[in-house]
Amino acid sequence: MKQSVKLIAGNWKMNGLGRDLAEAEALKLALEADPAACRVVLCPPATLIERMARLLGGGAVELGGQDCHASTAGAFTGSVSAGMLTDAGARLVILGHSERRAGFGESDADVAAKTEAALAAGLEPIICVGETLEQREAGEAIAVVSRQVAGSVPMSVAGRPFALAYEPVWAIGTGLTPTLEEIEAVHRAVRLALQGRLGAAGDVAPILYGGSVKPANAADILAVPEVGGALVGGASLKANDFLDIIRAV
Ligand code: PGA
Repeated sequence: MKQSVKLIAGNWKMNGLGRDLAEAEALKLALEADPAACRVVLCPPATLIERMARLLGGGAVELGGQDCHASTAGAFTGSVSAGMLTDAGARLVILGHSERRAGFGESDADVAAKTEAALAAGLEPIICVGETLEQREAGEAIAVVSRQVAGSVPMSVAGRPFALAYEPVWAIGTGLTPTLEEIEAVHRAVRLALQGRLGAAGDVAPILYGGSVKPANAADILAVPEVGGALVGGASLKANDFLDIIRAV
């Protein structure tokens, strides 16, 4: 299997004020002094993207949004379009995070529509899938993520840069992680589902692992076959922790 360059993305979620730009700056300086062996992406709240873009200046750290609307513009109070993210300086966008699926009722079809919008705006989507604890305990993890891949990944990603992220819902923010064997099994299933959907165009997109990735477990997780990077929540908020994860590639 061809491996694309690993991608380590930090998802700040609804955290971050102007003063926290200092963390992004520390990350940039550290990576300029000693470049990463992977792509590094920060996904701050939308309010910080433009300021962070100015600060980072298109260097060692790329920028992403955390969600976008499926429409290009219109009467959608509170929402942000893919074109607005691009305009602010983002080059990627996380879509279908489980906090969006569970908290905002996003279906696979919604995620696919958002992905189309992101592609049309020139963004690289990071499409998230993952099972709940109940689904894992019922032995349904692989069926659930395979179904999510089939429903959330539009055919139009073929030939475009994109990534998937496997994030077991029960591992997010809990300190719990699946075993390395469990991670490998699901990542292989995600790859198969992607190839089933896209054919050879599903061969190389990185499949990130997300859910309680931290400096202490990053090297082991990143060495698992088919793990093409990590989507990091809590541990991406502090430059030093995030750097330790980046250095584990
Ligand atoms: P966590 O979050 O690293 O804090 O578990 C991961 C995510 O939700 O992307």
